[in-house]
Amino acid sequence: MNAPDPAIAHASGPMPHVLNTYGRLPIALTHGHGCWLWDSQGRRYLDGLGGIAVNTLGHGHPKLVPALQDQVARMIHCSNYYEVPLQEQLAAKLCEISGLAGAFFCNSGLEANEAAIKIARKYGHDKGVERPEIIVYEAAFHGRSIATLSATGNAKVQRGFEPLVEGFVRVPLNDVAAVQEVAQTHPNVVAVFLEVIQGEGGINRTRAEYLRQIRQLCDEQGWLLMLDEVQCGLGRTGKWFAHQWAGIRPDVMPLAKGLGSGVPIGAVVCGPKAVNVLGPGNHGTTFGGNPLAMRAGVETLRIMEEDGLIAHAATVAEVLWAALREGLAGMKGVVEMRGQGLMIGIELDRPCGALLLRAAEAGLMISVTAERVIRLLPPLVLSADEARQIAAILVPLVRQFLSESGVPAS
Ligand SMILES: Cc1ncc(COP(=O)(O)O)c(C=O)c1O
Repeated sequence: MNAPDPAIAHASGPMPHVLNTYGRLPIALTHGHGCWLWDSQGRRYLDGLGGIAVNTLGHGHPKLVPALQDQVARMIHCSNYYEVPLQEQLAAKLCEISGLAGAFFCNSGLEANEAAIKIARKYGHDKGVERPEIIVYEAAFHGRSIATLSATGNAKVQRGFEPLVEGFVRVPLNDVAAVQEVAQTHPNVVAVFLEVIQGEGGINRTRAEYLRQIRQLCDEQGWLLMLDEVQCGLGRTGKWFAHQWAGIRPDVMPLAKGLGSGVPIGAVVCGPKAVNVLGPGNHGTTFGGNPLAMRAGVETLRIMEEDGLIAHAATVAEVLWAALREGLAGMKGVVEMRGQGLMIGIELDRPCGALLLRAAEAGLMISVTAERVIRLLPPLVLSADEARQIAAILVPLVRQFLSESGVPAS
């Protein structure tokens, strides 16, 4: 074996053998309990991020842990050569709570979106559209594979990876006329693909009325409506899925993140128009739908129901919003607070990535997205007291940050 190049090892910081693809904080988390995390130095943090909307049930949930231990002992993986009863169990539950008709399982958000894109293209080909196009959105984020980064509306994510995949037509969010114009000018469109609340793009909400209009347009045009609920879905907004606030159903719904409470999982849930588009040999994955991930999904949804976590998320979100609103009211430099339920963005008037480390040093895990938006995505098991603690830590940090960087905070 060659000795590692000391220059490279040095340049790569404390994880020299891992590719340098993330801007990491100098913190190594070792374990967690509920909404609390501990690092290798024994410091404790309140988890306002939930692994970026992944840890639905927090950490070490007393019902999830024994179920996963049981599943590990029984079977972790088996090939999709065989029937996997837990896949059927999870698919049936997803159909029940979404009103859709069937699910395909994979391992991540981007994989769920890749499957959605393939479904849209195949749907087009089946209708005789040889070069199908999909309407996508400015500031969207759908993942980092070549196809999903092409659908993503962020030049930073795409730069360096051109040529991008063709077949996407981009429009601004919440602008029905823009989609109507595409309908006139692009006869090959087969689907509209969007996040109900854009996560990475800065917590931008799609208006309910807009969703209803796009649903109608999709029906008129024979397009698929594909709603990426990878980040905003699974109870976070106070309903199972964020689109349910608009009283509509999608034809295709990619899910991931919160579905397995931390165990990697992805799913594409399809309505009647899309459920039979893929057949044997059209799509597949080695790990997708493995018994461990399926059990994690089944148990996550079961515990969410049993413990009333969706209603709880809505209630505790009100406490968090109220505490943040009160603390940030009138603070110069705070542009807007937006989002829904436990998916919250606080836009500042300047880049605020520095707040990540400062918040961690103050004992709170947060995220910053779209450069200027503080993002909170705590586990759904957050208590009202923990919600108030998040605000109590975050508000003074924001005030201090804004006063230091030029604008006097009130
Ligand atoms: C809306 C949305 N779609 C897709 C993805 C990609 O998911 P993954 O990182 O699991 O590939 C993300 C990740 O942040 C996301 O927020």
